[in-house]
Amino acid sequence: MTTLDIVGLCGSLRAASLNRMAMKLAIECMPASMSLEVLEWREVPVFDGDVLAHGLPPVVAALRERIRRADGVLIVTPEYNFSVPGGLKNVLDWLSRGQG
Ligand SMILES: Cc1cc2nc3c(=O)[nH]c(=O)nc-3n(C[C@H](O)[C@H](O)[C@H](O)COP(=O)(O)O)c2cc1C
Repeated sequence: MTTLDIVGLCGSLRAASLNRMAMKLAIECMPASMSLEVLEWREVPVFDGDVLAHGLPPVVAALRERIRRADGVLIVTPEYNFSVPGGLKNVLDWLSRGQG
């Protein structure tokens, strides 16, 4: 059976995050032909173009490579002040840079 390889990003870092719970529920509800790996991003530094000029930080490069190999990305996030949580936005900013 073909496996659809999905990776997940949760916008909340809280251990008791409702969004993280929803992501885990999605995993339980998936058909056997799908998998979902929740990617951790707690260690991603604040975006800095000067750091980028010397290359992606290893934690960002690893995230980027894992996402590149995936068939899809599921983002589950709370709303913070009518927007995306800053931490998640920071991760997306990093992921939007670099080669390829
Ligand atoms: C800094 C901050 C800003 C928030 N802003 C909003 C908001 O704009 N709209 C909203 O509906 N809830 C807002 N909330 C409530 C969160 O979305 C809610 O607590 C959510 O459950 C947090 O997600 P989590 O349970 O996955 O950690 C805010 C919470 C925080 C901490």
